[in-house]
Amino acid sequence: MRLSRSRRYLLAKNLAKRLLPGSFAWRPAADDRAVVEAVEPVRMAWPAGVRKPLVGLVPDRDHPPYWTKYRHFLEANGIPWELYDVHRSDWRQRAARLDAVVWRPLSFPSELEECRRKLVVLEGVMGLFCYPSLREALLYEDKLLQTELLQHHGFPVAETFISHDEQEALAYVERCEYPLVWKVGCGSGSLGVELVRDVRAARRAVRQVFGHAGRATYWPYLRQKDYVYLQRLEPNLGYDLRVIVIGDLALGYYRDVPEGEFRASGMDTTRREGLPEDALTLAH
Ligand SMILES: Nc1ncnc2c1ncn2[C@@H]1O[C@H](COP(=O)(O)OP(=O)(O)O)[C@@H](O)[C@H]1O
Ligand SMILES: [Mg+2]
Repeated sequence: MRLSRSRRYLLAKNLAKRLLPGSFAWRPAADDRAVVEAVEPVRMAWPAGVRKPLVGLVPDRDHPPYWTKYRHFLEANGIPWELYDVHRSDWRQRAARLDAVVWRPLSFPSELEECRRKLVVLEGVMGLFCYPSLREALLYEDKLLQTELLQHHGFPVAETFISHDEQEALAYVERCEYPLVWKVGCGSGSLGVELVRDVRAARRAVRQVFGHAGRATYWPYLRQKDYVYLQRLEPNLGYDLRVIVIGDLALGYYRDVPEGEFRASGMDTTRREGLPEDALTLAH
């Protein structure tokens, strides 16, 4: 397994970051206008006689940014918009004049928490059209909710055990085959996805999770507390697939599993080739 994606390495890195404060500060929002404007914008037909909404666009701090793509779309379609600083204390007052909000939250638990809370108000109480919606924001970066819903709707999912009950979790790890896949609820790029080698390690991890302080995660401010997410280690085909569905369009790419790894996500091994039809059909 890649050392740089192991829990121990990431915990040690977090410690180093605490000892060297300031040097790891997250970057402010970027503007890559030149890159985005080189691409033909998506144009939509607007029905006659319908007023165009005023859109509040949150400048996300991702790199590369998302908000500049939405700006390109809004400008190309003549939809009025303004920058919306949702993080400041007057976010409700600023939203009063808006019809819609576009806010691509960072995939960090801190911003997701803020986003979900504020969408309750923006979407649920003030009635603005929000993208993502609250439901979408709840689903994003929540492996527990995603898996529960996929199972509920009968999609094929790797055998997964999710429990918020210590006794049930301890009993479960006694009868598992090892190694077992352990996941943190919020994570991407394979961070928070680890192998548990044997039952002893599994027992210890379950006890930590249900203990007073929970179990440290690679998020420096977040501990895994009172839940387990365990999956059978499935044999892989040497890659995983990212499939993106937009209406009737399905597209995506391969990510190869590096030598000596079981994980593909976040390993910088993207390969663009025609995707298997069954995967496209399933995603669609
Ligand atoms: N149950 C599993 N069995 C085998 N490999 C897995 C399993 N779950 C995840 N993986 C591998 O680990 C990678 C990361 O897991 P995933 O749940 O997709 O997390 P992330 O949200 O970080 O992408 C996947 O790309 C896949 O290659
Ligand atoms: Mg993944």
